[in-house]
Amino acid sequence: MEKKQNHFSGQLGFVLAAAGSAVGVGNLWRFPYLAAKDGGGLFLIIYFILVLTFGFTLLTSDIAIGRRTQKSAIGAYEQMRPKWKGLGILTFLVPVLIMTYYAVIGGWITKYAVVYVSGQASAAAADNYFTSFITSPVSPVVFALLFMGVTALIVYNGVQNGIEKVSRWMMPVLLVLVVVIACYSLTLSHTNADGQVVTGWQGFLYYLTPNLEGLTVQRFLQILLDAMSQLFFSLSVSMGIMITYGSYVRPEVDLNRAVNQIEIFDTGVAFLAGMMIIPAVYVFSGTEGMGAGPSLMFVSLPKVFAAMGRAGTAVGILFFVTAIFATLSSCISVLESITANCMEIFHTSRKKTVLVLSVIYLAASAVITLGYSVFYVEVMLPNGSVGQLLDIMDYVSNSVMMPFIALLSTVLIGWVMTPDYVIDEMERNGETFRRKKLYRVMIRYVAPVMMFVLFLQSTGILSK
Ligand code: PHE
Ligand code: NA
Repeated sequence: MEKKQNHFSGQLGFVLAAAGSAVGVGNLWRFPYLAAKDGGGLFLIIYFILVLTFGFTLLTSDIAIGRRTQKSAIGAYEQMRPKWKGLGILTFLVPVLIMTYYAVIGGWITKYAVVYVSGQASAAAADNYFTSFITSPVSPVVFALLFMGVTALIVYNGVQNGIEKVSRWMMPVLLVLVVVIACYSLTLSHTNADGQVVTGWQGFLYYLTPNLEGLTVQRFLQILLDAMSQLFFSLSVSMGIMITYGSYVRPEVDLNRAVNQIEIFDTGVAFLAGMMIIPAVYVFSGTEGMGAGPSLMFVSLPKVFAAMGRAGTAVGILFFVTAIFATLSSCISVLESITANCMEIFHTSRKKTVLVLSVIYLAASAVITLGYSVFYVEVMLPNGSVGQLLDIMDYVSNSVMMPFIALLSTVLIGWVMTPDYVIDEMERNGETFRRKKLYRVMIRYVAPVMMFVLFLQSTGILSK
């Protein structure tokens, strides 16, 4: 059995790897789309408050549990309370499910990067381009397998030589790219059909201004729930990933600072992503296309890039390369978490474990990809939307399991273990855990109630 000589080299390596997990399609696509849909600045304010309270609580808990137990989800829960091992297994199952489709999305993004690099920006903007790509039986499978293969290769190389090494350059480059595109977005201007000049700056103000029009209590609650589910998806919490990464942090690292830095990185990139996408969409297609949901990234944006003329190809390349980095570093963390759990359970070596998992997930990725063609299904999900295989996996893992797990783990930490279990770890080297009081109240009272409501809402129980 491989001993726990697996560690990040230090604080920076850990923060960049954890930020790599956190920053993903959630930041680049989901956050801007929710902000546009949920009242701009209103959503931003709610989201920022939740990051500092709720997100902070869940992220702190996961990382502290990981470092304290030196184990991944299954082992960690078992070590805390043997009777709660079941919750560890449930937590482990979230990345197991996410892994079946994350490389598929990574494959789509890679395909678009290739399309822009080869100068076919206008083809990508055509009406049925995306649909005809994902429903074709070969090309999306090839890209998914490629993405899966690269992910496996990095995880195969281990914590420091694989994950940390890649995150150390990918995350800073990603940050620079997002800033560059966001600044470019602000300089855009375009004369619309009515002869008015619309500027990127106006789009930016549209993003920042709280839109209180038609705000009812019910709509406010909906926005709150959207922000909350976005938050824990975005921080990669309640799925064991941050427990695994936490278990690789050296004892002398100050977790307080690390948690703050991860939150700032993730939230900063989300905000900047809104700054790059919303003004650009605003300038070229107004506010209507904005709430477009899933199609924003693969349908609306290519149209926006096409409208930019020659610069569009360059911006398209930069955007999809950014998206590859974001998705790859997240995908790595998903596979790492599964790998780490398996190594602990089966006492196998990293290399052997990754090889076996690769075979399984290459097959799974192919099946999920073919869910749009050969294995096409249409299922009515309890939240009212219609989905294919990928959406089913996404729904079960993110909408059903994650809130449920978060609920149970706040009960475990808040009431069974008591908050001191986490607080002691945060103060291990004599640091002061500044938001201690907040943490206590959140983990015992606020978070469990909020998770319960979120669970009822996302499973559709609340609306029946
Ligand atoms: N945190 C990632 C994002 O914001 C999503 C993610 C979910 C990553 C699950 C890893 C695992 O996009
Ligand atoms: Na994120």
